[in-house]
Amino acid sequence: MNTPVSIRPQGDIAIVTLDNPPVNAISAAVRKALWQAVEEIDADPTLRAAILICEGRTFIAGADVREFGQTPEPPHLPDLVDHLEAARVPWIAAIHGAALGGGFEIAMGCRFRVAVPQAKIGLPEVTLGIIPGASGTVRTPRLAGVEVAVDLVTSGKPMAAPKAREHGLIDAVIEGDLEAGAIAFAKAALAKPLPAPISERPVAAMDDAFWEAKRKLAEKQGHRAPLEALAAIRRATELPFTEAMAAERESFLALRSSDEAAALRAVFFAERAAPRPDTLRDVSPRKLAQVGVVGGGTMGAGIAAALRSAGLPVVLIERDDQALARGIDTLAKTFAGAIKRGKLTEEARDALMAGVTGATDYAALSECDLVIEAVFEELSVKRQVFENLITHCRRDAILATNTSYIDPREIFAGLPGAERFIGLHFFSPAQIMKLLEIVPLPETAPEVLATAFALAKQLNKIPVRAGICEGFIGNRILKRYRAEAETLVRDGVPIAQIDAAMRGYGFRMGPFEAQDLGGLDIAYLQREGARAMGQDVPETLGDILVGAGRKGQKTGGGWYDYSQGDRTPQPSTRVAELLAGHIAKDAPNLEDAQIAAQLIAAMAAEGEAILDEGIADKASDIDLVEIHGYGFPRWKGGPMFASGKHR
Ligand code: 3HC
Ligand code: NAI
Repeated sequence: MNTPVSIRPQGDIAIVTLDNPPVNAISAAVRKALWQAVEEIDADPTLRAAILICEGRTFIAGADVREFGQTPEPPHLPDLVDHLEAARVPWIAAIHGAALGGGFEIAMGCRFRVAVPQAKIGLPEVTLGIIPGASGTVRTPRLAGVEVAVDLVTSGKPMAAPKAREHGLIDAVIEGDLEAGAIAFAKAALAKPLPAPISERPVAAMDDAFWEAKRKLAEKQGHRAPLEALAAIRRATELPFTEAMAAERESFLALRSSDEAAALRAVFFAERAAPRPDTLRDVSPRKLAQVGVVGGGTMGAGIAAALRSAGLPVVLIERDDQALARGIDTLAKTFAGAIKRGKLTEEARDALMAGVTGATDYAALSECDLVIEAVFEELSVKRQVFENLITHCRRDAILATNTSYIDPREIFAGLPGAERFIGLHFFSPAQIMKLLEIVPLPETAPEVLATAFALAKQLNKIPVRAGICEGFIGNRILKRYRAEAETLVRDGVPIAQIDAAMRGYGFRMGPFEAQDLGGLDIAYLQREGARAMGQDVPETLGDILVGAGRKGQKTGGGWYDYSQGDRTPQPSTRVAELLAGHIAKDAPNLEDAQIAAQLIAAMAAEGEAILDEGIADKASDIDLVEIHGYGFPRWKGGPMFASGKHR
């Protein structure tokens, strides 16, 4: 049988290469092979050090998440880390790509860690609903101090090698060839006394105020793992090493079988599967060298920002010079916001802006490989835009609409070249929101669809195919969710209790607060449009509020009242008066959890209908839409997962 670990002596240094594609995850086989390697090297008196280096795109990405549902097989990872640390010869972890979770824990079992400048290290376990289970919470504070350990472990965010070097998480940044650099490092290290193994290093005690401040921060993440991780680090500062290790393991194993961890694992794998639908396995995407955007409003400017940030040159078209100047200004403000948050330098902003060509003449789009339309949500305006695009764009350019509700078949009806039309439904703010609903028409060519998926990956977005129906996947479920929330109000459940229940479930906002923020008029106008076309759309409670001029925060009130300059929702006596005739007198006494369960069940029921109609390919796609487009709490897995409807 092929072993994932090979040993190659290089003078008195053993080069230990791990090769377990795709990401060198630590499976039971890897643990066994590494254990064996420690023994073999220790038994060879000619060897004085060992370098652990990995094949492929990355160092060890962590424990093998696919084994998390199974009974752990020995040797267990914490024992392997101890075994490495206790080896006769010092081990040196030579890191490229990422050393994450168990990967970084293995690196901490080594006496030294070196990395290429682009490498990242991290302990992302909390993002999987668990805590580090092989000494991450116990060795990290001994290696780099408690503050760094708390930030690394409770945020789950990776840290780049140069910063990791500053914090003492790694010993050297290696420019040039990693293996050669690690050998040189090993030789120099062997000439000096070795540092103490991390488990034997001291750890500082922190006061109660420190832990309380960190607890408040961890609590904001809304789920258990960050709090448990913090508690584990605290124990590591208060208990002897072995006791802290035992407690960490116990907490890790308990969390591993929690509902939250199961949900987060499902999301992890769904996100990775999303960019590669089975139907496109053999279809190559087209190359995109330049992209056009028509309409520089909220969405167009955001889409242009997202395209530029992914390195694509953009041509932005507006209807006149004034609108164009406004669009360019909105785009510049987007980048200015990023500079303010420390995410972008001024030079980088200048380069991003330099890649935008603004124009009012569609001729500027003649070389674009893809054009995304984001003009007003009006069929006639959109059709006019596409007629212009047909005239001015290359015959093979992909033409996309960002419409939220209009049937793309109506937008493109009768226009030549139907195989190149597609819907690309971005979410606001488009430069930030991760979701991209991809809406092919019946005639869309597979290659065009594949290009849309590839574009999403390039933009670092999560693509989901959606079939054509009103609202596609996300807005259709949103409509059902809001309708169910109104049903509860009609039943007599207080509006504020419904919002609080959904916040308690994990949403940042409840359904009514969210409508007040976004404005009640958008959905109202859409319903009015449908009514004008003869559809039977019953009056909603939202219609009554809009009828009374209550469109949300922008009009000083919607479902709630707002004081001037204050966004805190206040229960409204005016709303109570307006809706009085529509609300049942004998209100049911519902617990918050029952309210949340009823609303999530309604979302899932709509999801089932969406699956049955073929609007979505799989339940996990619906969950991704809700998590990445509508603020559904990730650790609940999405409405389908939460309702046991993953099929
Ligand atoms: N276990 C099993 N499979 C994994 C994995 C893991 N830890 N990490 C990645 N994979 C798989 C992915 O599912 C994907 O599989 P597929 O090709 O069949 O879909 C493949 O590896 C490639 O993954 P990506 O598409 O994410 O590859 P990238 O090159 O974009 O990113 C990476 C590489 C940065 C390493 C990224 O994969 C990543 O962040 N992985 C997760 C790291 C993680 O969470 N580690 C902690 C695990 S928990 C742990 O270690 C517990 C310990 O404390 C005991
Ligand atoms: P917006 O009103 O902010 O911007 C529309 C822009 O299009 C304006 O700048 C306008 O000058 C420009 N425009 C109008 N006609 C034009 C023409 N003929 N040629 C060139 N430019 C023209 O609207 P917003 O919010 O950006 O929406 C645009 C589209 O995106 C709509 O279809 C909307 O349904 C969709 N959408 C909106 C979302 C949102 O949250 N705002 C989310 C997802 C999709």
